[in-house]
Amino acid sequence: MKPISKTPIVILNFKTYLESTGKNALKLAKACEKVAKETEVNIAVAPQHMDIYQLSQKIDIPILSQHIDPITAGGHTGSVLLECAHEAGASGTLINHSEKRMNLANIDQIVKRSAEKEMISVVCTNNIETSSAVASLGPDFVAVEPPELIGSGIPVSQAEPEVVEGTVAMVQKINPSVKVLCGAGISTGDDMKAALDLGSEGVLLASGIILAKDPEKALLDLVSKI
Ligand code: G3P
Repeated sequence: MKPISKTPIVILNFKTYLESTGKNALKLAKACEKVAKETEVNIAVAPQHMDIYQLSQKIDIPILSQHIDPITAGGHTGSVLLECAHEAGASGTLINHSEKRMNLANIDQIVKRSAEKEMISVVCTNNIETSSAVASLGPDFVAVEPPELIGSGIPVSQAEPEVVEGTVAMVQKINPSVKVLCGAGISTGDDMKAALDLGSEGVLLASGIILAKDPEKALLDLVSKI
């Protein structure tokens, strides 16, 4: 199980695209691993829960669990237990995505339980205000993503740079040990560079790489200007 040790970081959220499901998840994760090794950029993947184990057996880059349910072991049929994700090989959690919102108390619970398991916590937020609230909970990363730009191909670093800069400033004030990532519409090296220039420590992205004709080539371009 690989820890997320250094920034800048790229986190590729596999979501539920068929291009990043099952066999395709493994192929894509291998491309991420290859680019991470060649370029020495830290790249982590967030596959669907049922793909975590197979990936953890075959790749050597950090794996995050897409969502964790705020439950503890016992009778919760159909829920995602943090301990199960951990045993399957996840070294971190990616929670509160705009496509899978949680309430603040439940985010707090998962951040604390991730830390107990020495898992990295990445909490998604949608604006400066929620980023501030989440920063006070002390996750490892806050990943700010304006929902309207998700999947749009319009990079947050260009369309709403003030949200990234504002989040970096507020999080720094509230809890300087929390690192800020940004995402939504990111796909190119220029987008990534702009994100870092705005003060973030990396990006969280999906469609720009997953749906690219050649995801490995797209990843190489993404990290080319770091
Ligand atoms: O979690 C990443 C995400 O929501 C951004 O999606 O497709 O705009 O890169 P996308």
